[in-house]
Amino acid sequence: MSGLFGLGQSLLLALPPERAHDLAVKSLELGLYPRAGGPDDKRLAQHLFGLDFANPVGMAAGFDKDARVPRELLAMGFGFVEVGTLTPRAQSGNAGPRMFRSMADRAVINRLGFNNQGQEAAMGRLLDGDGGVVGVNLGAGRDSQDRIGDYASGVRHMAEVASYFTVNISSPNTPGLRDLQAPAALDALLKRVQEARAATGRKPPLLVKLAPDIAADDLPEVVRVIEANGVDGIVVSNTTLARDGLSDRAFAKEAGGLSGRPLFVPSTRMLARVHQLTHGKLPLIGVGGIDSGEAALAKIEAGASLLQLYTGLVFEGPALIGRIKQALVGAMEQAGCDSLRPLIGRRAAAWA
Ligand SMILES: Cc1cc2nc3c(=O)[nH]c(=O)nc-3n(C[C@H](O)[C@H](O)[C@H](O)COP(=O)(O)O)c2cc1C
Repeated sequence: MSGLFGLGQSLLLALPPERAHDLAVKSLELGLYPRAGGPDDKRLAQHLFGLDFANPVGMAAGFDKDARVPRELLAMGFGFVEVGTLTPRAQSGNAGPRMFRSMADRAVINRLGFNNQGQEAAMGRLLDGDGGVVGVNLGAGRDSQDRIGDYASGVRHMAEVASYFTVNISSPNTPGLRDLQAPAALDALLKRVQEARAATGRKPPLLVKLAPDIAADDLPEVVRVIEANGVDGIVVSNTTLARDGLSDRAFAKEAGGLSGRPLFVPSTRMLARVHQLTHGKLPLIGVGGIDSGEAALAKIEAGASLLQLYTGLVFEGPALIGRIKQALVGAMEQAGCDSLRPLIGRRAAAWA
């Protein structure tokens, strides 16, 4: 049962990417997946923005868009799961094929375009939840006349079931969405979202997910607006529109967001810069190209308190989760510490 979700990784990798993804989710729903062996090492635990994380390894947004299998992903060993992106109403996304894999580059390009069944359907499933950290990633509808309103209504509707919210303004596959990362638009968005959140009973923590393609010169102002609006954490990063370092020419020509190994360096560099700009005070989720224990440790050392991955799981299978946890425990032992804290950001200057 060490292959991807118990089905055998080579079988999944032989299928077209979106079919393989659907089959992987289905196999989780059917209980055909490898369970984590025993409870996590206590040294991996952290308490961040009011939530208890048993380990720092999270399932990134986009794998479980409709909140079909958060409990199964937690049972497989993830410390937390981010479901979504969810838009107010169901939408089918872009025409296929819309997901591409390069074995040579250990990378994926997707232009799914927020295909999801809408917030109401996910809400029903999450209400049956029984613990574990399950964040909800929110997006705006493709044809929305009030994009900011879509985020605010998502917060209002889903506050009861979200351990935390991630405002996703960094998908490259909804035209114009990334314009919300411009400081003035971001400020207006966060003010409205915070208002909506303040009116909810539970007030889940609020995170913002950024694109790795924000120009280095623009980043300080973006981070300043995020901090000024009392956001609890930043997710760095989403997929990139860049195509640097790809060997697979046909693959590189596909439109969409690139994830996986080629994203590792740019997203880790940006993570380190955000860590420096926030003076290490804001918990950061490091995501982009984590496909080994070493890569996971590098993200922590660049400034991440928590990690997320998606593409690494496609190529490495669920055994990757255990390998990362083992590597982090090894690093703590080597450093002579009994929590991740001393490791977080200790190489930020070198990465930035
Ligand atoms: C097929 C696919 C779909 C994705 N869908 C979403 C999404 O709906 N919302 C989101 O915030 N990020 C989405 N992402 C981005 C991931 O959450 C993550 O930020 C990115 O893939 C980088 O991590 P990785 O290199 O470990 O995959 C998606 C990624 C992939 C590969």
